[in-house]
Amino acid sequence: METTLIILKPDAVQRGVVGRVVTRFEEKGLQIVGMKLMQIPRATAERHYAPHAGKPFYDGLLAFMTSSPVVVMAVRGVGAIAIARNLMGATFGSKAAPGTIRGDFGVSNAFNLIHGSDSTEAAHKELGLFFAPGELVPWTRMIEGWVYDLSSGTAE
Ligand code: RTP
Ligand code: MG
Repeated sequence: METTLIILKPDAVQRGVVGRVVTRFEEKGLQIVGMKLMQIPRATAERHYAPHAGKPFYDGLLAFMTSSPVVVMAVRGVGAIAIARNLMGATFGSKAAPGTIRGDFGVSNAFNLIHGSDSTEAAHKELGLFFAPGELVPWTRMIEGWVYDLSSGTAE
C-alpha cells in the first residue's frame, strides 16, 4: 500500500471542479485518508517545489500555488502514486490526453489543476509537509474486499 499527496490547485478550487476531481479518485477505488482546504504559506510552497528552484517557471509557479486556497488530499492504494499520476495526465493541459483530469478539465500549461507526488520519496516528504501526523485517518473501508481481491491475504 502506498499513500500519495494530491493537491487540487487554486484553479481547480476557483473553477468549482473540486468535487468532480475528487470523484475521479473515489471512482477509481483509491481511498482518501486525509483532506483539507488550505491557503499554502509561501515557505511551504518553496519547500514543496524546491526541486524546481531556479527554473524559469519557478517564481510564477509559487505565485500561482499561493494565490488562492487549495485542497490537499492523502490518497491510499496499491501503487497509488503511479495510479494517481495516470489519472492526472501529462503536465500540460494542452497536451494531456482526454480521459485524464488535466486532459478533461483544462487547456492551460501553467494552470494545470492538480499535483501528485512523483515517487515514494516525494510522497513521504510532501505528506509530511502538508499533514500533521494526526491529520491522516487510517479508516477501514467496508467495501475493501470488493475493491481488491483479498482472498490470498494481500490486496490484488
Ligand atoms: P506537479 O509537480 O505540479 O504535480 O506537476 P508535474 O509533476 O506534472 O510537473 P513538474 O515538472 O513537476 O512541474 C511542476 C509544475 O510547474 C509548472 N510547470 N510549468 N512552463 C513550464 O515549462 C512549466 N513546467 C512545469 C506546472 O504547473 C507543473 O505542474
Ligand atoms: Mg512534479
